[in-house]
Amino acid sequence: MPMNNPDSPLRLGVNIDHVATLRNARGGADPDPVRAAVLAQNAGADGITLHLREDRRHIRDADLPAVMAAVTLPINLEMAATLEMQRIALAHRPHAVCLVPERREERTTEGGLEVARDTDRLRDYIAPLAAAGARVSLFIAPDEAQVEAAAAVGAQVVELHVGAYCEHCTAGDDAARDEELRKLFSAAALAQDLGLEVHAGHGLNFENVGPIAAIPEVVELNIGHFLIGEAVFVGLEAAIREMRRQMNLARM
Ligand code: PXP
Repeated sequence: MPMNNPDSPLRLGVNIDHVATLRNARGGADPDPVRAAVLAQNAGADGITLHLREDRRHIRDADLPAVMAAVTLPINLEMAATLEMQRIALAHRPHAVCLVPERREERTTEGGLEVARDTDRLRDYIAPLAAAGARVSLFIAPDEAQVEAAAAVGAQVVELHVGAYCEHCTAGDDAARDEELRKLFSAAALAQDLGLEVHAGHGLNFENVGPIAAIPEVVELNIGHFLIGEAVFVGLEAAIREMRRQMNLARM
């Protein structure tokens, strides 16, 4: 199933992890990430992204099939490249699998996947996922060696980590922001040249999304934390619609 909305030049994957984070804070059933996924679909999201972490701090095992059953949108499962996660992905067969680095002590995914130093293992790891029909994406820093390694290990997609760019935006460091943007533009162009589909994500909000949405090779943004936070004030649907508007504006 192609993750494409013909009305939109740039797809928006809504990450619902932090609805589950709120739910887990009280240990009950509310707020329900499945309800958030349905609402995101109705608000015009092109896909639903969820990250099943090793420590299950937000999404839990049962959330994945529940979300998959509730929406018709493609599901993008973010996960660490472990055997446990590979088994789960092969059992549920989401549309896409995005491999991310994971450390228990981190608050969020802090860096890109180290593909270049782990090519043999990743090639073997990806093969059964790709054979089962998943689009395999690697979450990497905008670095030439990582892009080339991603193509070499058989990934179909790279998701460029824009976290450093977002941090420079927040800090008001224009020179560092522009340097990071330059790396993102060049990594995106190289990835496309190598036949990879290009996504981007991490830390995006209304203020910083424009320049990323304007990178011509980028076809999908995955956005979570900011949208769920904004939903506290304006509701999830309004937050998603405004993000979509900003993305479209940048693309025009
Ligand atoms: N893309 C990937 C690969 C991620 O790991 C995350 C964070 O889970 C996101 C996108 C979304 O980042 P944020 O929640 O900061 O929007």
